[in-house]
Amino acid sequence: MVGKEKSLASLFAKKSKKRVIFLASGRGSNFEAVAKNIRKGKLACDPVGLIVDKPEAKAILVAKSWKIPSFVVDFKNFASKEDFHKALLEKIRSLNPDLIVTAGFMRILSKDVVREFRMKIINIHPSLLPAFPGIHSQKQAIEYGAKVSGCTVHFIDEGVDTGPILLQSVVKIEEGMTEEELSRKILKEEHKILPEAIQLFIQNKLQITGRKVRIIS
Ligand code: GAR
Repeated sequence: MVGKEKSLASLFAKKSKKRVIFLASGRGSNFEAVAKNIRKGKLACDPVGLIVDKPEAKAILVAKSWKIPSFVVDFKNFASKEDFHKALLEKIRSLNPDLIVTAGFMRILSKDVVREFRMKIINIHPSLLPAFPGIHSQKQAIEYGAKVSGCTVHFIDEGVDTGPILLQSVVKIEEGMTEEELSRKILKEEHKILPEAIQLFIQNKLQITGRKVRIIS
């Protein structure tokens, strides 16, 4: 009986873990940084799946190596953007996530996804938002002559990189730094703040008022 109680307790503990899914388009190093933290027991959540929008996304290999199920919703297979976004929403729904993490997902999510999962989608972006949104943010920062840049974890809303900010990390832009060098420097910080932000979310430590996110201890 004691054994049975124990196994029920562990089942309950397992069930109560937040279900996290990841959306990616490329290399998947942020996804891997999170997966490592989960497997090391530093993040108590269930990584229930990775969704990619192209079959050649390297993130799939990362998912395989961490034994996380991966799914391809191949943009090229759909007659229209709308059809792709419908299929993506269905795939997301089928995984029943508590949190969606976009980590190098190079598409704007549809309004339907944002509406249905409001304040349950977070994104990692390689600049200090609201500076340099969109693509090639590291190049934008260098060309602008910024002295610092960094990365931001923010909730996704209907705009492009405009949602409430959870965490940011600053890096210095050295004289003559190339886009690749800056990207590498920023990526190191991304790998720290993304798992940290997920941890705050799953521990219910975020209090959102308007566009302000307070971290409660
Ligand atoms: C990361 O630098 C991420 O911040 C960026 O793409 C890279 C993905 O790397 N995302 C954006 O630019 C979104 N606008 P990863 O696939 O190795 O995680």
